[in-house]
Formats: sequence, C-alpha cells, structure tokens
Amino acid sequence: MSRVHVRVRAPSNIALIKYMGKVNAQINIPANPSLSLTLQNLCTITDLEFEPASNFELLWEGATEAEGTTLRPMSLRERDRPKMERHFRRVLEYFGHPFDGRWKVRTGNTFPAGAGIASSASGFAALTLAISAVLGKKAAPRSELAALSRQGSGSSCRSFEGPWVLWNDQSTSSLESGFGPIRDLVVLVEESEKTVGSTEAHQRVLTSPLWNGRVDRVHLRVERLTRILQEADWQQLSRLCWEEAMEMHELFHTAVPPFSYWSARTREVLEFLKSEGAHQGGTSSGPVRIAVTLDAGPNVHLLIPEEDESVWREKFQARFPGIQLLSDGMGRGAEVLRIERGGA
Ligand code: DP6
Repeated sequence: MSRVHVRVRAPSNIALIKYMGKVNAQINIPANPSLSLTLQNLCTITDLEFEPASNFELLWEGATEAEGTTLRPMSLRERDRPKMERHFRRVLEYFGHPFDGRWKVRTGNTFPAGAGIASSASGFAALTLAISAVLGKKAAPRSELAALSRQGSGSSCRSFEGPWVLWNDQSTSSLESGFGPIRDLVVLVEESEKTVGSTEAHQRVLTSPLWNGRVDRVHLRVERLTRILQEADWQQLSRLCWEEAMEMHELFHTAVPPFSYWSARTREVLEFLKSEGAHQGGTSSGPVRIAVTLDAGPNVHLLIPEEDESVWREKFQARFPGIQLLSDGMGRGAEVLRIERGGA
C-alpha cells in the first residue's frame, strides 16, 4: 500500500435513553438498549496519514486544523491513550492488515472534551472510519463499522447514522420520526474534565440499589420513545427524557461509593428548567416544547424545536447572565471528507 492521507469527521450524539451498565466490558455489550440523536457540528475531525514502513509506528500529533482554525485537541490523557491504541490495533486486525507502516494521527474536537458532550463517541467513530478509509474499506456497511467502533467505545456506534439511532446489543438502526428540525442547546455549566470516566461509571452503577429493575424499565421506555418519535409528541418526550436522565444520575448518586457530575450550577439550571415545566412538557399556563437530558457530566442538554432557539437563549441569558450555550442540529453520521493516495 502506498502513502495515504484521509480526513474524516464524526459527530457526537446525545442519548435520550442511556447506555449505562455493560454485560460484556471487553467488547462493550450494553446491559440495555439506548436511543440517541446524532448531532451535526459538535464533532471530531481526524486526519490520518499512512506511510509504508516495515515497522509499525503510531504517532499522535496533536490537534487537527480545519478551515484555518486549530480545533481543541482531543483529550488524550495517559488513561485514554492506551484505549485508543488498542482500538487502532483492533481495526487493523479486523481488516487483516499487517502491523506495519508509519501512522500519524491528528485529531481535534469542536467542543470541550470530558464535559458530558460525548467526545469518546465522536472520537472513536472518527478513528474507526479513518483507519477503514485508509485501508480502502470505507464502503463497508455502516452497521459493520459501527459494530467495530462499539468495541472501542460503546456510544460511538450511534454516530454512524442518524438522526435517530437505536442501539440494541450488537446492532444499530435508524428510526423514523415525525418531529421537525430539533436543536440541541447545550448549557455549558463547566468545561472541566470529569473525575469519574464513563467506563468506570458503567461498572459502579451496578452497585446501586436502584439498578434493580433498570433494564426492564429501559425496555419499556424504548417502546414508549419509539411511539413518541412517530407521533412527534413533545409533552411525552419531555416527560420521558427527564425521567431517564434523572434515573441515570440517581444511579451515580446511589452507587457504592456514590459520585456525582453535578455542580451547584447544574442544580440551579435544573431547578430553573423545572419552573419552566421542562420536566413535564408545560406548566399550568400552557405547554412548552422542550426535553431535557444530561450525559455523564455537569452540562444540560435542551432539545427544542429549531424555531424556539432564540426564545430559550434569551430566557437563559436573563436568568444566568454570561452563561455559555452551544447549539447544534441533527446530523446523519460520520463521513469521509478527503482521501489522497500516492504522492510524496
Ligand atoms: C453517559 O460510550 O463513553 O454517555 O463504552 O466505556 O467507552 P465506553 O463508554 P461510553 O459511555 C457513554 C455513556 C453515556 C450515555 C450514552 O451515551 O448512552
């Protein structure tokens, strides 16, 4: 194989029904199905260069540049890098490529890593697609790349299609929805790295007394949400998302030992949203179209109709002056942006 350079992008996704708890931690088989919305611009961009060489060499070269701006380097802390390297080898092995060549990776996120915006989802999806593209396998079925990526980081398997993706056991599929364009408005409470990584959270939730019955509850919620999507029912969506996000965080708060991703600001934001009826689709003065969720982090995601974004921005600026809001739309999953083969 001659020299190859590829650039790919993979979006993050936000789970409405959460992947939390595994039945097989080696290859990330989840304890229960999860259902997410694929995002568009909150993404990882990864450049991967391959040069022929007899020895295998893997170099992590910092952040990607995209359209003239340097992206935030993906968090590659000591504890994350071995996981990515193991995944790199897994993908080469899967496609039967020998462990040779000089591989240079540059990768960056358009959002802060480790703060509850799923950077491992977009990061692993981008890496899996980049290696596959270098090896000439980018046309492999999406479901196959997703299943491979899942073994690196579970939630990444939901970033290969979209916008609505169901992940059950080893497979992923897109779901129909009657909802129009939805925005994910992320209330950035904190940008700090999380103290308990999600891989550890997956183990600790099993120690919570609330784990009992969780899998059955989630199966029922998946059925409910599938119907809600078809019927585009904002009120039911609002109730379901609140219930599910609070249940996941309660698992954290009641694990042995307990832990929490929430800061005082997270609680204030949730209280404010409750006063707006965001937990139940409205107040006595009328309905509101908003669904609230949180990942394993302090930030709060608001799913709202595109046309309501400015109203919610104004409400937040009035109540929490200076608070940072990120916003993104619905996407269709990871894509290859460029492939150059041969040359110097
Ligand atoms: C809270 O996919 O990051 O975001 O498979 O161990 O890499 P690993 O875990 P990860 O877990 C994400 C969990 C979550 C909920 C979700 O996205 O469904």
